[in-house]
Amino acid sequence: MSDYAITASAPGGPETFRRTEIATPEPGPGQIRLRQTAVGLNFIDAYHRSGTYPWPQPADLIVGSEGAGVVEALGAGVTGLALGDRVAYTQPLGAYASVRLIGADRVVPIPDGVSDAVAATLMLKGLTAHYLIHDCHPAQAGETVLVHAAAGGVGLLLGQWLAAKGVTAIGTAGGAQKGALAAGHGYAHVIDYDSADFAAEVTRLTEGRGVAAVYDGVGARTWRGSMQALAMRGTYVCFGQASGPITDFAFSDLAPKSARATRPSLFHFIADPAELRRRAAELFAAVADGTLRSEPHQTLPLDQAARAHADLEARRTTGATVLIP
Ligand SMILES: NC(=O)c1ccc[n+]([C@@H]2O[C@H](COP(=O)([O-])OP(=O)(O)OC[C@H]3O[C@@H](n4cnc5c(N)ncnc54)[C@H](OP(=O)(O)O)[C@@H]3O)[C@@H](O)[C@H]2O)c1
Repeated sequence: MSDYAITASAPGGPETFRRTEIATPEPGPGQIRLRQTAVGLNFIDAYHRSGTYPWPQPADLIVGSEGAGVVEALGAGVTGLALGDRVAYTQPLGAYASVRLIGADRVVPIPDGVSDAVAATLMLKGLTAHYLIHDCHPAQAGETVLVHAAAGGVGLLLGQWLAAKGVTAIGTAGGAQKGALAAGHGYAHVIDYDSADFAAEVTRLTEGRGVAAVYDGVGARTWRGSMQALAMRGTYVCFGQASGPITDFAFSDLAPKSARATRPSLFHFIADPAELRRRAAELFAAVADGTLRSEPHQTLPLDQAARAHADLEARRTTGATVLIP
């Protein structure tokens, strides 16, 4: 069967995706050809497709930033990998395809006992959870923090990891079902932010102290309440904008609590191959020791990427979604 990619020719909605036949590519020096078995769906895919993030090239765009598969060909100079190895990666763009080229130093081996589909739920979302809680605000045992979209892909991993560190995590989620799911993934309290004022609830739960940090991937609709929910000298980690970009933030908004704010990107925390390997090793160790459970909550053929995007953007998904080429 011939190889294919899911492409978009201009920024737009999920309906812009087309299945496009592609030539099987030959790896250049330092690259491998990866036969993809599972592709992770992430909100960043929607930002790329819609043009929320700058459209990077005039030609057809292949979105997708996370995947797993089998090494099918080695370019010149590649060492440490063999044909048939199972590997996983996260890298901006190019993942929605049956096969792809990627730098050999951008992939990590998938440990025995971890399926390709599970690896494709972990590389982007799990490494994000890793750097958020170790680097952006290193969460300490005994602290209380707030995580928005707690039943989402990143959210379910954050809850489990924070709980294992002895951190009290308060989550927000839309509706009772998502709340119950988040509560089963480490969250001590879950607030339905569709029906309650989450900032007021956090103030009540923390007896007026507020939280040491807010991990916010929702953005426009949550940032102001997040500032209210912060403790004095707390840290606002704005790592995404599922509800739309924040356009009305001013530095002076930090002043009432001497708060800190950061807007990080995973790819700056794994740019160095050694750092990527270290973080991935810690991530897979957390899976191996039972700290983290991760499995796809939705599995669709890659052909149905448009439906997957529509579901993600309409808040119909929980946890991770995997697309199978
Ligand atoms: N900066 C980084 O390094 C980095 C890396 C990975 C991910 N991210 C960000 O992390 C966030 C979560 O990513 P994910 O892939 O795991 O997605 P996700 O959390 O599975 O999905 C997004 C969730 O956001 C919530 N949401 C609230 N208002 C929304 C709205 N108006 N439209 C759509 N969703 C809304 C929904 O949960 P409820 O229904 O419960 O509200 C939805 O399920 C995204 O913002 C993503 O861009 C950032």
